[in-house]
Amino acid sequence: MLFPLIKSLLDLPPDSRNLTVRGWVRTKREMKNLVFVEVNDGSCFSGIQCTFDRSQGLDAGTEAALTALTTGASVEIQGRLVPSPASGQAVELAAASVKLTGEAPAENVPGIPAYPLQKKRHSFEFLREIAHLRVRTNTFGAVARVRNRLTFAIHEFFQGNGFQYVHTPIITASDAEGAGAMFQVTTLDLDALAKSGRAPDYAGDFFGKRCCLTVSGQLEAETYASALSRVYTFGPTFRAENSNTTRHLAEFWMIEPEMAFAHLEDDMSLAEEFLKHVFAAVLRDCEEDLAFFDSHIEQGILDTLKSVVDSRFTHMTYTDAVKELEKAAASGVNFEFKPYWGCDLQSEHEKFLTEKVSGGPAILTDYPKEIKAFYMKMNGDGKTVRAMDVLVPRLGEIIGGSEREDSLDQLSRRMTGLGMKTEDYRWYLDLRRYGTVPHSGFGLGLERLVQYVTGMANIRDVIPYPRAAGQADF
Ligand code: 4AD
Ligand code: MG
Repeated sequence: MLFPLIKSLLDLPPDSRNLTVRGWVRTKREMKNLVFVEVNDGSCFSGIQCTFDRSQGLDAGTEAALTALTTGASVEIQGRLVPSPASGQAVELAAASVKLTGEAPAENVPGIPAYPLQKKRHSFEFLREIAHLRVRTNTFGAVARVRNRLTFAIHEFFQGNGFQYVHTPIITASDAEGAGAMFQVTTLDLDALAKSGRAPDYAGDFFGKRCCLTVSGQLEAETYASALSRVYTFGPTFRAENSNTTRHLAEFWMIEPEMAFAHLEDDMSLAEEFLKHVFAAVLRDCEEDLAFFDSHIEQGILDTLKSVVDSRFTHMTYTDAVKELEKAAASGVNFEFKPYWGCDLQSEHEKFLTEKVSGGPAILTDYPKEIKAFYMKMNGDGKTVRAMDVLVPRLGEIIGGSEREDSLDQLSRRMTGLGMKTEDYRWYLDLRRYGTVPHSGFGLGLERLVQYVTGMANIRDVIPYPRAAGQADF
């Protein structure tokens, strides 16, 4: 059996049972004969207070450990679980002895610089430089727990609705979004190639052809949805967009459900139900962490999440959204990018629509085909496609999806028109050759979801080790 973590110790009755607390010291305070040590093990936001009473006589080992023990040190503390006289906690440990497992010096000592996370506020920029230690802070511990709970809620939702989890490949020869922002994967000797002056011969490369890291598992998910009816992928995806924003990463985790016999309206309902399910799960199970985000990171985030769970998402076509934006621009709202029909919506537009027009999440549909991917189903007007984006205040796009083109003719024509080689996508077109069905799906970036739920401003602070242009430390 594994020993119980602090999360479960805090729920026990204070019946003087003997137990051991294991974790890392957050603070040590001394008052007269008492030494208070706050220990956190990351199992929940709170730590447990361990109180040493010198008037009871502590053994020499414990006295020595208490002297050496500082913020960040790892400890094992034995004692009895008793009612806590302090406010804000029901129980504490009447500590009898402590074993200092590992020191964390507060001052520089030979060979070891002082532990960088002293009890004071550190900037997120500074913490990004010590990403291997930042998870020991309140904020990053809470982000990690919320991210974990969201991940579990995502699986719960899909598994509970008949979706099967499929593992789509990371290395691929196809560009799923047709946008070309891919990282190449090769074992060719680039230095030798550069010296030789020759063009690379991909036939001699590891996979026998030019391969990249995937930008989306959608195309392969479609193949499985065309047999298992409802599937989802959930894995890392990679984009070599050189955009240095607070919403973009080069490596992020994407959830992509795909449903057979489903149209855009079904996709929209799925997205809304899905988001509400995961919000309800964190509201229920991450109360303490969310209360922290509400008071320290983004005021009102709790009320926002609750109201989103209880209200209906606004539906709007792209065309109507652009009308709203043009109206706003005409009445003096200053957009950096002028809105017009056909423009790709910028995040300032998406924020305006959700913050000023819908006052909450909005699902925009029927975008111009020129700004959307090749696989989206064409509308009867020949100009727009059955696309949907879910937009939220503060962030803009959180989900992108569509009904897929299920007609072989239409899809082949569209791909050829875009200059894509249909031979490279033969397997994808086979889905339209054999037993084609209307089908739809979407992609949600996990990090955008974590940002939305926690209120964290920068996407680099909601993934353990962010990868972005010029950044691949740890
Ligand atoms: O809108 P996107 O590009 O859609 C797709 O990839 C489709 N294949 C999804 C599908 O229909 N199966 O990306 C989907 C979502 C975005 O809405 C956003 O949340 C997230 O992925 N995303 C990113 N997150 C972080 N960093 C980036 N560079 C992202 N690019 C997209
Ligand atoms: Mg998108």
